[in-house]
Amino acid sequence: MGYREVYERSLADPEGFWGEAAGGIDWDRAPQTVLDDSTPPFYRWFPDGQLNTCYNALDRHVDGGRADQLALVYDSPVTGEVRRYTFRELRDEVATFAGALRRLGVERGDRVIIYMPMVPEAAIAMLACARIGAIHSVVFGGFASNELAARIDDATPRVIVSASCGIEPGRFVDYKSLLDGAIDIAAHTPECCVVLQRPQLEAPLTPGRDSTWREAVDGAPPADCVPVAATDPLYILYTSGTTGEPKGIVRDNGGHAVALNWSMRNIYGVDPGEVYWAASDVGWVVGHSYIVYAPLINGNTTVLFEGKPVGTPDPGTFWRVISDHGVGVLFTAPTAFRAIRREDPEAEHVRKHDLSGFKALFLAGERCDPDTLEWAQTTLKVPVIDHWWQTETGWPACANPLGIELLPVKPGSPTVPVPGYDIRVLDEDGEELPDGEIGAIVIKLPLPPGTLPTLWNADDRYLAAYLERFPGHYLTGDAGVVDTDGYLHVLSRVDDIINVAGHRLSTGAMEEVLAAHPDVAECAVIGVADELKGQLPVGFVVLQAGVERPSAEIVDEVVAMVRERIGPVAAFRRAVVVDRLPKTRSGKVLRATMRQIADGVEFKVPATIDDTAILDEITAALAGIGYPPG
Ligand code: COA
Ligand code: AMP
Repeated sequence: MGYREVYERSLADPEGFWGEAAGGIDWDRAPQTVLDDSTPPFYRWFPDGQLNTCYNALDRHVDGGRADQLALVYDSPVTGEVRRYTFRELRDEVATFAGALRRLGVERGDRVIIYMPMVPEAAIAMLACARIGAIHSVVFGGFASNELAARIDDATPRVIVSASCGIEPGRFVDYKSLLDGAIDIAAHTPECCVVLQRPQLEAPLTPGRDSTWREAVDGAPPADCVPVAATDPLYILYTSGTTGEPKGIVRDNGGHAVALNWSMRNIYGVDPGEVYWAASDVGWVVGHSYIVYAPLINGNTTVLFEGKPVGTPDPGTFWRVISDHGVGVLFTAPTAFRAIRREDPEAEHVRKHDLSGFKALFLAGERCDPDTLEWAQTTLKVPVIDHWWQTETGWPACANPLGIELLPVKPGSPTVPVPGYDIRVLDEDGEELPDGEIGAIVIKLPLPPGTLPTLWNADDRYLAAYLERFPGHYLTGDAGVVDTDGYLHVLSRVDDIINVAGHRLSTGAMEEVLAAHPDVAECAVIGVADELKGQLPVGFVVLQAGVERPSAEIVDEVVAMVRERIGPVAAFRRAVVVDRLPKTRSGKVLRATMRQIADGVEFKVPATIDDTAILDEITAALAGIGYPPG
């Protein structure tokens, strides 16, 4: 069957389609109902099914003949370590850590926050939670204490699992101090913290609250898989919303396992037994879905890489990992390829490695510029596939479905809707736009299995953020266009989310930090185009009347505040002091116009602007910090 036929069937008969896909999963109680649509706009997949996600990721492969196949390869150029786990070994480590968690009082439905660098223990902790029906919430290591504290208060974990340090080029990240800082700020206090001591930087423990990983697992009786309802949450993953308050995306167990298992063969074209590598971080959705769950559920070897595309030690690292571990398919963000290309434009490092087993490259997380895609195609001589999805969807919504049919690649487009996703482009009034016209990208309900059923403890916010704008449709927050061949082109966000090096950040959250500076009266943060990272945040601050201090001092302070409160991952380094901000007559800050000035693109002076002279002031301020570049 070709793509078109599979896609049409998925929409015409979703229950038949996903009911069949559910056969790829081992159930403790097979679902009799595929979709519960009795309370729209809330939908539940496989409502009467029971399963265990960890069983599907590990035990079934141990029992089914893959016990001695590698399940996980940890490759860490920053420590020089390579560690390999077979499915049996990984299952045993996970069962022991699950037993340790249980001994610490963690029960089905309890939350566990995981704040860890890219070490195998991060994946082990995730799978251990899944094994006993606990709900994990992984927090990316590049977030500071404040962000971690917000997640602690929302998820109210019984236990937090962390490490003594992370290793970034040139510095250690002291996770334990960041964790202690977060617990001080948070209103909720976990009962216990488990800390993986790394030899590079050991951390002092808080007596009575902390134990080391080693102490936690010592003598812990291995725990068996607990069957849970398909609709029970597997994890909560916080992502940037339009305000400083992150959204807790909930992922269920059943729909997630079915969709991810289906995606490995049909989208990524990967058969069980092959080696798959997602070069991302377990703190992001790509890491959840395609470092941990999908490859393991599908019986693949997954690579967990602790390093960067460049500088660890050189731009040949990716090729070395592909060749050393026999990687068939790689998934990463375009920014990683821009970084490699910048250091090795002639791709000399590629020639030093045997890439004969490499089949395909998938890129996502941000818009993929055609130049980068074409460079990757020429360099690697395999299909290079841009695909589009979000933390909310949990797996690709638009892709070139390699495992079904490789469609012609159009650089700049993530190709076509994935089976299960009924993607539409709407105008302001919710009318569907004809092909070729730009509008809001939405997905007609019900969303397929594996996508978010709601936000953690916030059904109302879920409705308000995603479902109320266009009833019957899920709002993706992206704007774009479908061309006459049915290919989607994702052009921009319609909200204030920006994408910095493939990391999703909220300019609204940064504005909240700037506004908290005592000398700042008003502020705005915009995302400007950046050659390497795709976008970078730039701040504008208007000072309180009477503040006489040098602007440079205030700029340094707000830059430090964003690093301190959001984290280094925000990459907020540029800000300017201005006398006022451009606004509409109704007082709305014209961020889009400011962005166009910074990017050096032509723009129309908005008819609603209250005073056009201010645009010259903004242009001059931006020129002072090097925008537009060149
Ligand atoms: N823990 C702590 N700090 C982290 C971190 C982590 N897990 N990840 C990043 N940081 C820090 C970095 O050290 C850096 O700090 P600095 O300001 O002190 O230098 C800051 O956050 C920004 O990091 P990053 O955006 O990664 O920039 P970089 O300059 O270190 O590296 C790239 C640039 C392009 C090499 C890098 O961004 C990259 O590999 N991107 C791929 C993106 C990706 O995998 N995205 C996931 C979605 S698929
Ligand atoms: P995240 O939730 O961090 O995965 O970020 C999701 C957002 O990243 C999407 O809503 C898009 O704005 C952007 N994005 C992800 N993949 C792509 C892509 N292939 N092309 C364009 N934008 C993308």
